[in-house]
Amino acid sequence: MDELDINHTRRDLLIAGALSATAAAVPSVAAAQATGTTRNETPRPPVTSKVALIVNGKQRELNVDTRTTLLDALRENLHLTGTKKGCDQGQCGACTVIVDGRRINSCLTLAVMHNGAEVTTIEGLGTPDKLHPMQAAFVKHDGYQCGYCTPGQICSAVSVLDEIRKGIPSHVTGDLTTAPLLTEAEIRERMSGNICRCGAYSNIVDAIVEVSGRKA
Ligand code: FES
Ligand code: FES
Repeated sequence: MDELDINHTRRDLLIAGALSATAAAVPSVAAAQATGTTRNETPRPPVTSKVALIVNGKQRELNVDTRTTLLDALRENLHLTGTKKGCDQGQCGACTVIVDGRRINSCLTLAVMHNGAEVTTIEGLGTPDKLHPMQAAFVKHDGYQCGYCTPGQICSAVSVLDEIRKGIPSHVTGDLTTAPLLTEAEIRERMSGNICRCGAYSNIVDAIVEVSGRKA
């Protein structure tokens, strides 16, 4: 290849690179369609919907953007900030609340999917003057350090004991024909969706065992 060919090739590459960079910087028609807008058009207002929840025993009526998660509805609309946002994608358990008797990650579900549901958050379990037994046990056993994961841990722990009482098996339950035992392995497995970056795990297990009234 002579010098002219090499320069030609370099120039072609530079032009091709500039063109692809420009293309990436300009929003595509498809992207505009995805957001429901075209150039010079104002964005459409969000679609809203009414949703009625019974939160910590109180009837609450909301009018929310249909994309609002239950977590955001609790924190931003109802100002119940005890429920925490950690990852906002179902990985940490900080947002755990109890809905119709079952614990769920409130960041992974939309508020409008729970019309008529009963929701219990950490604020509904106990008060500073009258702690829920699980809250008192977490204090007694130092089941937290920074406390960020704690509301989710406590909501999960309350549900874990309920699940074991009801005989619901977990991944580590050996014999599926009999009720699961309250072993440390069962508790750790069932609490494994609640991450504590402070590492208070062994104290959390101690607190749960105490509330269960059984020896792990
Ligand atoms: S905030 Fe919901 S699981 Fe992390
Ligand atoms: S107490 Fe800090 S993250 Fe659990």
